[in-house]
Amino acid sequence: MASPRGQWSGKLGFILAAAGSAVGLGNLWKFPYITHQNEGGAFVLVYIAAVALVGLPIMMAEIILGRRGGLNPVGTFRTLAEGRAGGRAWQAVGFMGVAAGFIILSYYSVVAGWTLRYIVLAVGGQLGELAARPHALDEFFGAYAADGGAQVLGHALFMGATMAAVLFGVKAGIERVATVLMPLLFLILIGLAVYAATTDGFGEAMAFLFDPDFGALTLRSVLEALGQAFFSLSLGMGAILTYGSYMRKQDSIPLSALQISALDTLVGLLACVIMFSIIFTFGLEVTASAGILFTTLPAVFYQLPGGGVLAAGFYILVAFAALTSTISLLEVVSSYAIDELRWSRRQATLTMGGGIFVFGVLNALSLGANGPLSTLNVFGEGKDGMFNTLDFLAANWLLPVGGLLIALFAGWVLAARESWDEVRQGHPGGAALFAGWRFLIRFVAPLAVGAIIFSVIFLGMEYQ
Ligand code: PHE
Repeated sequence: MASPRGQWSGKLGFILAAAGSAVGLGNLWKFPYITHQNEGGAFVLVYIAAVALVGLPIMMAEIILGRRGGLNPVGTFRTLAEGRAGGRAWQAVGFMGVAAGFIILSYYSVVAGWTLRYIVLAVGGQLGELAARPHALDEFFGAYAADGGAQVLGHALFMGATMAAVLFGVKAGIERVATVLMPLLFLILIGLAVYAATTDGFGEAMAFLFDPDFGALTLRSVLEALGQAFFSLSLGMGAILTYGSYMRKQDSIPLSALQISALDTLVGLLACVIMFSIIFTFGLEVTASAGILFTTLPAVFYQLPGGGVLAAGFYILVAFAALTSTISLLEVVSSYAIDELRWSRRQATLTMGGGIFVFGVLNALSLGANGPLSTLNVFGEGKDGMFNTLDFLAANWLLPVGGLLIALFAGWVLAARESWDEVRQGHPGGAALFAGWRFLIRFVAPLAVGAIIFSVIFLGMEYQ
C-alpha cells in the first residue's frame, strides 16, 4: 500500500538513500583533512567511538521519531509532542532543522559545484597541464574561488540537478538516484583503495590512521570528532528523520541505523587510506582544507598511467556523493513545505530550491569575489566570509543543539513503550538492544553533545 507521502520501495532503498545522504563531502573532503590535522590514529579511534556511542543512537532516534511521526521534522515534533512536557515548543527543533537544511545546502552546493568544474578540466585535459607545473593547481584554485561568475555557475548547476531529483519524489527521484549512484561510488572507492594498497605510502598511511598515539589527543580533537560524526552522519537537523518518515513499518530500525553508520564510516576511512597512501607516497604537503581534494590529489593522478581518466572518474565520484547529500538537504526543506504549507512537491521544490540558490549566491561570492562578503566575520579567526561563517554556525551550533534536543526528546519525552513499539516492528526480539539504545540516548548522547555545546559557549572553543 503506497502512502500518499511516498515511501521507499524497500529496506535497501531506505539504506541506500540514507547512506547517500550521509556519504558526501563530509567524508571525502572534510574527514581526511581534519584527520590529518588531528594527527591520525587516536583521532580515528575517538571518531569511531563517537559514531558508535553518540551517532548511532541519535540516528536510531531520528528514524524512530520520523517513522512514528510520519511527517517532516516540524510536523513530526508537533504530532509526537502533543499533550506532553514542552508541547508545541518542540516544534522549534523541527524548524531549526529545516533552517539548518536551508543554510547547509546554500554553501554545500557551492563546493559541490567545484567538482563539476574539475570534471570538465579533467576531461578537457587542462587539469593535466596544471598538474604538470609546480604550484599551478594552487594558483588555479585560488583564482577560481575568487571568480564570482564561475562560482555562481557551479552552484546553479548543482542546485538544478538537486531540484530535478527531488521533483521526482521519494521513490522515482531520491531512491532511484541513490540506487544507481551509491553502488558505483562504492565500486570506484574500492578500486582506488586497491590501487592505494599497491603504493609505497600505503604502510605509512595505515600506521598513521590505525596506530594510535594518545599523546596527540586533546579535548579539542575529541570534540571535533564528535562534531564531525554529526555532520558526516547527517544528524541533528532531521534529514535522517525525514527519510525515516518514508520507511516501511516492517523494516528494522536498529539494523538500518547500523548499516548506514557503518557504510558512512567505512567510506570516510577508505577516503583516508586512499588519500594518505598517495600523500605519503609522493611526500606531498597538506596545506589548506580544500587542499587535499582540489589541489593536492589532481597532481597525483597524473603521475599514474591513464591519469586523466582517473581524475575525471574521481571527480564524478565526488559529485555523485555530494548530489545524494544535497538531495537529502533539499528534501527536508521541501517536505516541510509539502506537509505543513500544503504545497505541491513541484511548488515546494522549485520555490525552496530557488530560494536556497539565491541565498547561496552570497556564499558563492564570499570566497574572494566580493570584498564585504568575503571578509565578514562573526566567529573569530579563521572564520572569514559568509561561507565559513555559515559552515561554523551549522556544524558547531545548529547540528549539535538539534542533536541534543532530538536525544532528549527521544530519551525523556517519548515514552519507552512508544519507542519500543516502533523498534519492535521490523525488529522483534530486540529487547536487549533496545535497552542499550535507551541508556545511550538518555545519558551518554546528551552528556557528550552537551559537552560540545558547553565548550563552544564557555571555553570559546572552535573545533572545526
Ligand atoms: N552528511 C553529509 C556529508 O557528510 C552532509 C549532510 C549534513 C547532509 C546534514 C545532510 C544533512 O557530506
